[in-house]
Amino acid sequence: MSTVSKLACDVKDLNLAGVGKLRIEWAGQFMPTLASIRKRFAREKPLKGIRVSACLHVTTETANLMLALQEGGAQVVLCASNPLSTQNEAAASLVADSGIPVFAIKGENHDVYYSHLDSALQHRPHFTMDDGADLVTLAHTDRKELAKEIIGGTEETTTGVIRLRSMAAEGVLGYPIIAVNDADTKHMFDNRYGTGQSTLDGVLRATNVLLAGMNVVVAGYGWCGRGIAMRAHGMGANVIVCEVNPTRALEAVMDGYRVMPMIEAAKVGELFITATGNKSILIREHFEAMKDGAIVANSGHFNVEIDIPALEKLSTKRRIVRDFVEEFTLNGGRKVFLLADGRLVNLSSAEGHPAEVMDMSFANQALCLEYMAKNARNLEKKVYPVPEEIDKTVARIKLESKGVNIDRLTPEQEKYLASWSEGT
Ligand code: ADE
Repeated sequence: MSTVSKLACDVKDLNLAGVGKLRIEWAGQFMPTLASIRKRFAREKPLKGIRVSACLHVTTETANLMLALQEGGAQVVLCASNPLSTQNEAAASLVADSGIPVFAIKGENHDVYYSHLDSALQHRPHFTMDDGADLVTLAHTDRKELAKEIIGGTEETTTGVIRLRSMAAEGVLGYPIIAVNDADTKHMFDNRYGTGQSTLDGVLRATNVLLAGMNVVVAGYGWCGRGIAMRAHGMGANVIVCEVNPTRALEAVMDGYRVMPMIEAAKVGELFITATGNKSILIREHFEAMKDGAIVANSGHFNVEIDIPALEKLSTKRRIVRDFVEEFTLNGGRKVFLLADGRLVNLSSAEGHPAEVMDMSFANQALCLEYMAKNARNLEKKVYPVPEEIDKTVARIKLESKGVNIDRLTPEQEKYLASWSEGT
């Protein structure tokens, strides 16, 4: 750590706290749902005395979540859920202005990343709040002894939920976890509109290319891929979708995109964005087929979607040509540009999803943690959905904050929906 502090933490520079505080406040203005929960938490202290270790992208939006949990009485520590996504200013302010221990430095290497997770577990949490399940995995493997007091957790993202379900299926999951990702008010908004906008934001900040008229290949047509394709189309790109699931591929066709296997898309694409949650999406044969100047970026949780070792092997030369842009010169002279080391481009070269959408994701996190604090001891060691009441509450508060009123079912309509006797 570059600046001395009494608080155990590891951040880039505590002198960044002033800028960080302003940015956290800026994001907070756009997070009315979380703010209303924070207000109630301040009155009711539903998290009093609980220790929480959070492993999330350390951003201004996450900072607002941490402050809400602290206001609710929780003792929180925070570490990064990705080596490149940390906003050093936000990390500094949480430590210096709010006394929250943070272990996160943008650009940290693999060993430091894991030492930060380890520091978060030293807090001996009652609850984990994870994004990608790296913290939970560590608590179930190398650092089992630090996990004895954990009684529950929450998980933010699709990739993490998949890993946790696989742990539960193998019977090794040690405590109940709520899949925040699966709330409608999370994935339908964060994964689609958040990833859609922030991914293009990351690509544009890194490259400043014109999307209009560009052949943009989107790999994966889940909620994130749908959002990326929709926004790229909106900016005039010719969108091609690659998808292995036939139903989703059909949806992409009917949404108006060209759909084809990656080996075909590789020949015509100019910008490639992976968002599948799987590995080896862009591999040697694809790089070999790409046009000169192709740009490749990833928006999936882990940096496994683009086979970077294969790209390295094919290349005779590599150099950094702009922040977050690495040029690979292939045999024969063609160039391929890799963005952000193949890590989440939206959080590496931009600021992640806008606060308006993280408002809903993190409102779910706060309410699920409150639910866990009340109920975890009665739950099994399984992955649980977000209680519907929480999902609907988040939607309701968000609508209210936007000044939008909606109709309600009349008693007659409710009765009709619950009956089966009335037909033709
Ligand atoms: N995931 C995607 N965008 C994010 C953000 N702005 N903050 C925290 N996690 C995120």
